Amino acid sequence: MRKRSLLIFTLLALFLTFAERASAADAAKIKQGEKLFAERQCTACHAIQGKGGPVGPDLTKVGSRRDEAWLKKFLPDPKSVAPETMMPPFRGTKEELDALVAYLLSLK
Ligand code: HEC
Repeated sequence: MRKRSLLIFTLLALFLTFAERASAADAAKIKQGEKLFAERQCTACHAIQGKGGPVGPDLTKVGSRRDEAWLKKFLPDPKSVAPETMMPPFRGTKEELDALVAYLLSLK
């Protein structure tokens, strides 16, 4: 019986350690995405919580409207989704796109 609780405790501790690491990694990614959003002038056209331009849709809650697959298709090639759009394509590495998408998905 004691052996068993020790096993359960160990598994739980391992799980919590990994969960914490995963969320720290997510937080770093979201932060990088937020930085990219500012650096790449997304704010010239998009507002988030009242800050930014009015040309594109407000992105304050974009994370509840769009999912990862949609964003990963749209951002590098907006015209593939909205042929007439004036939004410029996002150019960046796969990691940068991942980070930008993680940030956008966190806006709920
Ligand atoms: C020149 C203005 C402009 C810039 C700069 C711009 N966008 Fe856009 N964006 C738009 C417009 C306009 C739309 C609406 C799509 C359409 O035309 O139907 C849009 C749509 C979007 C959408 C979809 C929103 C929704 O729910 O439909 C996302 C997400 C988005 N932009 C993210 C970005 C990001 C991230 C950047 C920076 C890398 C960026 N945009 C830069 C104009 C812009």
